[in-house]
Amino acid sequence: MTGLLIQGASLFGGHSADIRVRDGVIAAVGSLSPELGERTIDAAGLVAVPGLVDLHTHLREPGGEASETVLTGTRAAAAGGFTAVHAMANTSPVADTAGVVEQVQRLGERHGYATVRPIGAVTVGLEGRQLAEIGAMAHSSAAVRVFSDDGFCVHDPLLMRRALEYVATFGGVIAQHAQEPRLTEGAQMNESALSGELGLTGWPAVAEEAIIARDVLLAQHVGARLHVCHLSTAGSVEVVRWAKARGIHVTAEVTPHHLLLTEELARGYDPRFKVNPPLRRDDDVHALRQALADGTIDIVATDHAPHPDEAKQCTWAEAANGMVGLESALSVVQLAMVETGLLDWAGVARVLSTTPAAIGKLAGYDAPLEVGSAAHVTLVEPEARRTWSTEHLHGRSVNTPYTGRELPGRVVHTVHGGIVTVHDGVLGEAESIAALAKEALRG
Ligand code: DOR
Repeated sequence: MTGLLIQGASLFGGHSADIRVRDGVIAAVGSLSPELGERTIDAAGLVAVPGLVDLHTHLREPGGEASETVLTGTRAAAAGGFTAVHAMANTSPVADTAGVVEQVQRLGERHGYATVRPIGAVTVGLEGRQLAEIGAMAHSSAAVRVFSDDGFCVHDPLLMRRALEYVATFGGVIAQHAQEPRLTEGAQMNESALSGELGLTGWPAVAEEAIIARDVLLAQHVGARLHVCHLSTAGSVEVVRWAKARGIHVTAEVTPHHLLLTEELARGYDPRFKVNPPLRRDDDVHALRQALADGTIDIVATDHAPHPDEAKQCTWAEAANGMVGLESALSVVQLAMVETGLLDWAGVARVLSTTPAAIGKLAGYDAPLEVGSAAHVTLVEPEARRTWSTEHLHGRSVNTPYTGRELPGRVVHTVHGGIVTVHDGVLGEAESIAALAKEALRG
C-alpha cells in the first residue's frame, strides 16, 4: 500500500496538523513534508475525527438483500464517515449461530469499506424462548461480544438474567431493545394526546422505562454489563441516571432521529417517520440531548433500518418501522449537539467513535488519531450545508426522514485502516477497495 499524507486537518476541531499513514497505521502526526510517491489529501478547513463506529446497524444480509447487503450497507457507512459497524442479528436466517456471524464477518472483510462486527442474537430465532448459541458465537472467528434480539425485547426476566450471566463470563454485553410487549401490542406511534387525535394506537413511554428499570436491577444482581438500545424518553434517561449513580454497569445509546424529530411528524401519516421506538415529544428530545451532553447517554447509534419502497410506500398502519441513517448521522449530530453548543468535536468523537468501540470491545479505537493507532480517520467539512435528498444515500433503500431538510456538515474523506474509502465525497470503486482490503489482510 502506498503511503498517505493528510495535510492540515484540524484535529478534533482544535489545532491543525498533518497525519502520515503507513501500512494502515498512523505513523506520524505534526508538521510533515510529503515524501516521494506519497499520496496527499488536502484537509485544510476540515475537522479530523477518528473513524466513526456504529453499534447498531441493520445490514439485512443474509435474507434481506432487497433492502440492503453487507456491501451496500458498508458503502453507506463509509459515505457517512463510519469505519466500523455492528451488524444487527435480525437477518434471515437470524444470526443466532456461529455459521451466520462468521458469514457476515467474512463479507465485511472481503468488501473492505468498513469493519463489520456481527451482533449475535440472544435467543434462538429472536423468539424469546431459548438462549442462542452465545458461547459458540463468542468463541467463533467472529469473536462476537454484543448480543441483541433487537426488533424484539428479551422480555422473559429469567432468560434475560441467564443471558447477562453468560456474557459476563467473557466480557460481552447484552444490548436490550427495551419494549414491554403487552403494553405495546399494536402500537403505531408515541402514546399521547396526539395519538388519540390521529386515531393511532399508542406506544407508552412506560413500556420502555419499565424494562430498563428491570434490566439495570438484573445487571446489578448478577454483576453483568447491560447496554440499552435506542433510548427514547425523558423517563428512561432518569432510570439510567439513577442506575449509573448506583454504580451499575449500564451504557445507553440514542439515535440521531430521536435527537431531532418529534411525534408531530406523524400528523401527515407519512410512513418515513414511522420507527420503533417511535418519535417522542419535544421534552423527550430536550432530555435526550442534555443526557448525551452530560454522559448519562454514552453514545449515538444510527439504528440504520433500510426498507424497500413497498414496505414504506403504503399506509401508516401497514408500513415497516425504521429509517436509514448512516449517511445523515454525523450531520444530524452536528445540528442537534454541536450547533447548540452541547458537544464539541472531541465530544462527537467520544459519542460516535471511541465509546461505541469500547462498548463493542472493538480494537483500534482507544488512542484516536495518535501515532501507532490504526488509521481510521474521518474528515468533515463543518461549514457545508446540504438540502437532504436521496442523492446523498448510497445503500439500497431510500427511507430517509430528512428529505428536503437542510443539514449541516459533509463527510469529505473517510480512511479505513489506511484505505481511502471516500475521497472528496466520492466512494472508492468496489473492486479497488476489495483489492486493497485483500492486500491489507495479507499484510
Ligand atoms: O424501527 C426499527 N426498525 N426498530 C427496530 O427495532 C428494528 C428495525 C428494523 O429492523 O427495521
